[in-house]
Amino acid sequence: MLLKCGRPTLAASLFLRLGWEILISRSFPADPQIRYSCPVLYRLYKPEDFAALYAIEEACFQPPFRFGRWYMRQIVDNPDSATWIAEKDGRMAGFAIVEWVQDEGATFAYIQTIEVAAGERRQGVGDELLRRVEASARAAGARTIWLHVDVENSAAIRLYEQSGYASQGRAEHYYARNRAAVVYTKKLAQSDPGAASPAIAFFGLV
Ligand SMILES: CC(C)(COP(=O)(O)OP(=O)(O)OC[C@H]1O[C@@H](n2cnc3c(N)ncnc32)[C@H](O)[C@@H]1OP(=O)(O)O)[C@@H](O)C(=O)NCCC(=O)NCCS
Repeated sequence: MLLKCGRPTLAASLFLRLGWEILISRSFPADPQIRYSCPVLYRLYKPEDFAALYAIEEACFQPPFRFGRWYMRQIVDNPDSATWIAEKDGRMAGFAIVEWVQDEGATFAYIQTIEVAAGERRQGVGDELLRRVEASARAAGARTIWLHVDVENSAAIRLYEQSGYASQGRAEHYYARNRAAVVYTKKLAQSDPGAASPAIAFFGLV
């Protein structure tokens, strides 16, 4: 039987799900400390993703930290940008956006944001999205990548520091009066053997 690409039929879904669970239960010892999650697919943004992407933005940030809808559309539509989507079980689990500009012959990349839906955090999604935007920046010719992060955002600061970003100091009143940002930069190696291809399914263990 040939299955059409796209959404599988109910019977096919059940068959695939059963096969996946048998594979998992045979491949790994039964350990109550380990839960096996659905695979996470990393792919580039498509215009029809906007509503789900902006819903994550609204869930993650309150004004004045939240990007406006109009501004968000500008950055995802910018031809000198890449937006990576993490998708789990057909739903958006997170996204990350990087832009790049040329200045005096060099290309600099800037991470606009990385956001993971609350229920999907601490499973490596943010880390993988960061690797993907770095790979896109490198492919665009950038040798340096930088970003702002709220001084009080300890989760994001930990993520960036663990990934090799170095603090270059604070930008006072960046988000609001008395709410500073820390500026982080990282040098991008010219070639990264682990660099991501445009869309690779990645199987996560939680
Ligand atoms: C920051 C954020 C993107 C991290 O995403 P995530 O998928 O949970 O991150 P990962 O699971 O890949 O974690 C990678 C590393 O980040 C650090 N980290 C992530 N969340 C953390 C937390 N709550 N506390 C401390 N460190 C944390 C850890 O070093 C972690 O590595 P470890 O799991 O080996 O300890 C996520 O918390 C988020 O979406 N926050 C709201 C939006 C936001 O603030 N974005 C940053 C904009 S600059």
